[in-house]
Amino acid sequence: MAIERTLSIIKPDAVAKNVVGQILARFEAAGLKIAAARLAQLSRAEAEQFYAVHAARPFFKDLVDFMISGPVMIQVLEGENAILKNRELMGATDPKKADAGTIRADFADSIDANAVHGSDAPETAAVEIAFFFAGLNVYAR
Ligand code: TYD
Repeated sequence: MAIERTLSIIKPDAVAKNVVGQILARFEAAGLKIAAARLAQLSRAEAEQFYAVHAARPFFKDLVDFMISGPVMIQVLEGENAILKNRELMGATDPKKADAGTIRADFADSIDANAVHGSDAPETAAVEIAFFFAGLNVYAR
């Protein structure tokens, strides 16, 4: 199976709950390695650009407001099947529908404050990693 990289964000709700370490530990326990990481306060322009695919959706403004409401922890995760593995660890977008034991089931409060982001395909992973880590070190693990 291919070694992949994926972009993961621990969102402002989870950072505010002080569960960054618990979430990172789940990635590590599943065999994903942290290849780059930084804590950041997103600007409105950055959040709008990152979620541009959702610009026409009714929840877009609330999503952007939420993503800039506090710092986020952004990391590149590397490992076998990393994109799907991270999505499985995250659970469904709506925490009420997320499987027991997933990050969203355990840490998220609602569909809009849902603790984590994870790239959904190789193409988006490449774009999202470049968006946040262009010019910064990403380490082969
Ligand atoms: P989406 O890409 O569909 O989900 P995921 O994060 O699981 O890849 O949506 C992006 C984010 O938009 C989602 O994490 C939270 C927000 N969102 C809402 O606030 N309301 C909604 O109805 C949907 C579908 C998403």
